[in-house]
Formats: sequence, structure tokens, C-alpha cells
Amino acid sequence: MTRAFVVTGASKGLGRALAIEYAAPGVALALIGRDAAALDDVADRARAKGARVRIGRIDVRDRDAMHAFLVEVDEAEPTGCVIASAGVTMVTPHAGAVEDLTRAQDLFDVNLNGVMNTLAPLAPRMRARRQGRIALFGSIAAFAPPPDSPSYAASKAAIVAFGLATRALYHADGVSVSVICPGFVDTDMTRSYDSVKPFPLSAEEAARRIRRGLERRQAVIAFPRRLYVAARLQQLLPEPVRRRILLAFRATARPQS
Ligand SMILES: NC(=O)c1ccc[n+]([C@@H]2O[C@H](COP(=O)([O-])OP(=O)(O)OC[C@H]3O[C@@H](n4cnc5c(N)ncnc54)[C@H](OP(=O)(O)O)[C@@H]3O)[C@@H](O)[C@H]2O)c1
Repeated sequence: MTRAFVVTGASKGLGRALAIEYAAPGVALALIGRDAAALDDVADRARAKGARVRIGRIDVRDRDAMHAFLVEVDEAEPTGCVIASAGVTMVTPHAGAVEDLTRAQDLFDVNLNGVMNTLAPLAPRMRARRQGRIALFGSIAAFAPPPDSPSYAASKAAIVAFGLATRALYHADGVSVSVICPGFVDTDMTRSYDSVKPFPLSAEEAARRIRRGLERRQAVIAFPRRLYVAARLQQLLPEPVRRRILLAFRATARPQS
């Protein structure tokens, strides 16, 4: 049974909920994020449940720092499961109607390069040991891209493709890759914009669903089911209908407090 977990984006939202969900006696957690106070709070909660916790206050874009920390963690205790939850979103302002390229490239840096920086030190070690689980975060937005978040949707579609490709590649080495595709989970990320948000879930409920999916080594862990099925089916509809459906999900960024 997997006892050693690496979780990026562990300070908040889904990463935080997963760290607490997995915390138990005999479990080792390596928690990565940037917000020191929030990481300390998760660590305290996980330790209270009996887990051993190590904190990496690291920006996932920092390839060298990620490499050094993850190799040290893996040397101390071989990683059984890596959960790459760190991610950011952005909503394009309606009036501007163009992407802010700097922000879009920053987003790709976190959502794509951050994941590569997480896997590069660990995946070869897991493959050599012939065991391990890798959980990557796509989104239902990868299948039904919201019109105001093209960069975000593109980054998540890339992760779905990357995850499914590596799943096939790593299978023979005993390492299973799962792509997690949530709908709307109540976290800082979904609270940062206003839009239609059907069938919302708490981060704790989402963490339990993700855990069940990872235990079954599912390729795609998508929920809520009805939203995922609707997102897949709309891809088959004629473009004018599809466009109207996607436009119903237009979003407005909330002012930052
Ligand atoms: N919430 C949803 O409904 C939903 C739906 C589909 C997919 N997802 C995906 O699920 C994942 C988690 O989302 P969430 O809703 O939990 O978001 P969240 O509440 O905003 O949390 C994001 C986490 O990512 C970390 N992070 C962001 N940039 C980072 C960086 N450069 N370096 C290190 N850590 C960084 C944050 O840590 P610090 O603040 O400490 O840096 C935080 O812990 C994301 O990949 C997201 O795309 C979420």
C-alpha cells in the first residue's frame, strides 16, 4: 500500500484536501506550495492525524529547487504517489477580448512546466522501482472550454493528453497515471470568478472521489459524472449549438481582495 505521497499545491484547495484526506499514522507527506502560513496549517492538521510531514516551500516553476527537494524526499522514503495539484486560472476580461500574453504564459509555466518539474525527478525513479501512482489535474474545461478561459482550458487539455500518453507509456513499468477532471469544486480558484457553476462539490468530497479513483487506478477520474458526460456529448453537436452552450459558461473575474 502507498505510504509516501508528494502533493503540489498542497497549501490550498484540492491539494490541501487531498493531503488531509491521506494523512494517517505511517503515512509520509511531502507538501509543496508557496504560502508558508497555509502550508504550516495543512501540516499541523496532517500531523494531528498521525502523518509525518515535510514542507517544500517552492514555486513549481523553479526546476532546480523542485529537483533538489524531490530527490531528497524520494531518497528518504520512496514516493508511492505523486499528486500534481498546483495550478492557476485566468479569466479574460470581456471588454478587452484579447489574452494578456504575459499572464497566459505565466499560466502555462505553472500549469504545464510546473507539472513537468514535478514529474521529471520522480517518474524515472518510480519506473525503475516498477511501482507508483501519478495523479495529474486536467479539468472538464479541457472538453468544454469556457470562452473566457482559453489559456486555462488549453493547459488542462494538454495535461489530459500528456497524462493519457504517459499512462500508456508507463503501464509496462508498473506505474499508473490518472488524469483528474473535476467540474466545479468550491476552492479559491472557482471563487475567483463568477459564472454558472452547476453541481458544485466541496474540496473534501472531491478529495474522497479522487482517492477512490486513484485506488481503482482509473485513467480519467472525472466528476460530477453528469457534467462530464454532458461536456463529452456537446463535442458531437453542430458548432452553432455547441457555441451557444459554451457561451452560457461565460465568466467574469472577481476583483482581487
Ligand atoms: N477547483 C476546481 O473546480 C477545479 C476544476 C478543475 C480542475 N482544477 C484543477 O485542480 C488543481 C487545484 O485547483 P484548486 O481549485 O485547488 O486551486 P486553488 O484553491 O487556487 O489552489 C491552487 C494551489 O496551487 C498552488 N500554486 C499555484 N501556483 C503555484 C506555484 N507557482 N508554485 C507552487 N504552488 C502553486 C497554490 O499554492 P500557493 O498559493 O501556496 O502558491 C495552491 O495550493 C488545479 O490544477 C486546477 O486547475 C480545479
